[in-house]
Amino acid sequence: MRILLFGKNGQLGWELNRSLITLGELTVLDYPDVDFNQPQTLPEIVRAARPNVIVNAVAYTNVDKAESEPDVARRINADAVGEIAREAKNLGALLVHFSTDYVFDGAKGSSYVETDTPNPLSVYGKTKLAGEDAAAQAGKYLTFRTSWVYSNRVGGFVSKVLEWTKTQNKLRIVDDQIGSPTWSRMLAEVTGQLTARYGIDKTWLLERQGLYHLAGAGAVSRYEWVKEILRLMGREDVVVLPAKTIEFPTPAVRPLFSALDCSMFSARFGIGLPEWRTSAGFLMEEMAAPKQGS
Ligand SMILES: NC(=O)c1ccc[n+]([C@@H]2O[C@H](COP(=O)([O-])OP(=O)(O)OC[C@H]3O[C@@H](n4cnc5c(N)ncnc54)[C@H](OP(=O)(O)O)[C@@H]3O)[C@@H](O)[C@H]2O)c1
Repeated sequence: MRILLFGKNGQLGWELNRSLITLGELTVLDYPDVDFNQPQTLPEIVRAARPNVIVNAVAYTNVDKAESEPDVARRINADAVGEIAREAKNLGALLVHFSTDYVFDGAKGSSYVETDTPNPLSVYGKTKLAGEDAAAQAGKYLTFRTSWVYSNRVGGFVSKVLEWTKTQNKLRIVDDQIGSPTWSRMLAEVTGQLTARYGIDKTWLLERQGLYHLAGAGAVSRYEWVKEILRLMGREDVVVLPAKTIEFPTPAVRPLFSALDCSMFSARFGIGLPEWRTSAGFLMEEMAAPKQGS
């Protein structure tokens, strides 16, 4: 099986590079070898790799900056996905793509299911929603809507929290944004399992193709999430105070409640998803463990 992975240096791509490598002949492309801001260049790149499976971990993920760069965000999150999807269709390849809880407006107040109507509040959410439609054009596709992705990568949420504690012993964190923290490795491992299954039994997987919610189980506020990160890192000396979103004006409007109900994914694929707190514990253990030889 030939697998083409776009984006190896982001939170998710980093883990996908490791979970896909044993599954076949893996081609990994990242900026500047591919530039999703130039969608018209992508079909030739896909054709050259002749993939059976394309996994796309590239995205314009700076939610606030997207408000002032809507055209760039749309090219990367939607137009580029459309070009890849068209080429996937020509080649008969499966496209695995990722979307976001920010396609929802948060007004529902309980966990979102796949049949809920999206209503994105931000440029990022709108462009990712357009990307979902674009991915479906591949004919054979899996799109996973995920949320609050975290990892040990610099620039990710966990490393930002730990950075803040270097200069502040009191953090004010919003308690009115609720979501489902999702470990990038869990997403990558699940993607790896399903890609492996596709290699063995295409029919089984294609009978289940479509759009799914895939995130850490459960829901939590940003405030509780930060408290848990600090607890797991043994940094309970840092005081965390609850605040409200309205106190921190940002260019992009975020949904206040965007937890995802992933029961359809688990039922169709027979894969149980760990509680967000369990995965967070695994990552923090790894981050806190002394390096071998030190
Ligand atoms: N992060 C979250 O909280 C979150 C929440 C919900 C859904 N998601 C979705 O989950 C997926 C993975 O997100 P993530 O957290 O792994 O994102 P990330 O860490 O920001 O990684 C995005 C990747 O896209 C690459 N990229 C950006 N612009 C590019 C361009 N013009 N050409 C080629 N590559 C480009 C980046 O490369 P450079 O590193 O070189 O810039 C990086 O490798 C995305 O589809 C995202 O929308 C994320």
